[in-house]
Amino acid sequence: MNHFSYRNGELHAEDVAIGEIASAVGTPLYCYSSATLERHFRVFEAALPKGTLIAYAVKANGNLAVIRTLARLGAGADIVSAGELKRALAAGIPASKIVFSGVGKTREEMAQALVAGIFQFNVESEEELEVLNEVALSKSQRAAVSIRVNPDVDARTHAKISTGKAENKFGIGWDRAKDAYARAALLSGIEVVGVAVHIGSQITELGPFREAFAKVAELVGALRAAGHKISRIDLGGGLGVPYALEDAPPLPDAYGDVVRDAVGDLQAQLIVEPGRLITANAGVLISRVTYVKSGDERRFIILDAGMNDLIRPAMYDARHDIVPVIEARDSQRRVYDVVGPVCESADLFARDRELPPIAAGDLVAILSAGAYGAVQASSYNARALVPEVLVRGRHFAVTRPRLSVEDMMAREIMPEWLH
Ligand code: LLP
Repeated sequence: MNHFSYRNGELHAEDVAIGEIASAVGTPLYCYSSATLERHFRVFEAALPKGTLIAYAVKANGNLAVIRTLARLGAGADIVSAGELKRALAAGIPASKIVFSGVGKTREEMAQALVAGIFQFNVESEEELEVLNEVALSKSQRAAVSIRVNPDVDARTHAKISTGKAENKFGIGWDRAKDAYARAALLSGIEVVGVAVHIGSQITELGPFREAFAKVAELVGALRAAGHKISRIDLGGGLGVPYALEDAPPLPDAYGDVVRDAVGDLQAQLIVEPGRLITANAGVLISRVTYVKSGDERRFIILDAGMNDLIRPAMYDARHDIVPVIEARDSQRRVYDVVGPVCESADLFARDRELPPIAAGDLVAILSAGAYGAVQASSYNARALVPEVLVRGRHFAVTRPRLSVEDMMAREIMPEWLH
């Protein structure tokens, strides 16, 4: 459920008319709903065993106001860089609730996270384990570590966001996991605390989770039998969301049951790392139609938003529903290709999409764009970096103003020999 709906024929974010935001901020823009963020967090929290740490995956939407909204509800953070560490801390997430994931943590990033005093590192290779040990010892610390294991489970999602197969770069191979724990136990800068797993994103069936969590449970048993103190289990993120009306991914309660069944009795602190589930349907990308162009074969709606603002359709063949901001009066539908202005044929938001008649100057909303939208935006084609707005009830605030082309040019330096 989300808080974007038509009122008096106009799309609203909570109690604010989208047209009002578009007039004030200009288009394109991202608009997030606080009530939706909060609802998604609470529903997920309620579905999981009590005491589970919900480490919000900052990569899905790193806007400081979005993170703070979640921090106020008690969220932790799953980070993958020193940049995300800074964002999470600045937004008010306590270091004691921060989990550091990622295959390529540098020494500098490890040092910063140790100084901050984060909850744990999810280590993804034996090589990383050795480096983290060195960095921790150089700071006279012990790093709390969960080893991310690769369960070789097919998440049955898009290949580019599948992470739990043996062929993927993520985690320590299943067969080597026990050796890695044995090695970790010998390193005095490392305190092994748990097992971590994350098999992919936008997963729309429970089977892959069930399979992966069962393997994790078995490993926890084996590791404990071998004398390791495994007090935490991190199950990663990945629960899919509906992108279209007909999509029906598993509900949080059903996912919670899978978690309880698999690891509920293991007397461990559970951790989850949801990103998309919290933010995807809490955000929309608002754009104005620049032209409606009739080609020889197709009719194109050309938006002022492009693939640089939302790359998901181009990158993952993602489907996003698109709706007019002013509700269509007649039920007549036409078939359009909805595209952006960027000079690439991949700059296509929807192909052969049935939409009500749309004219130049109309506003449209690209739905379910709150996760992996603004964070993956760029200024390709020298386009201004898209702004972000957060709504709360009757109020809205620009939380990241548009970064103008002048702002961006001002940060470039002309070499002396070109003066
Ligand atoms: N934990 C780890 C270690 C991850 O790698 C990810 C996502 C998450 C948690 C959060 O997963 P979620 O709950 O959001 O599914 N840009 C792509 C998605 C990339 C996901 C990367 N990792 C997209 O737009 O579909």
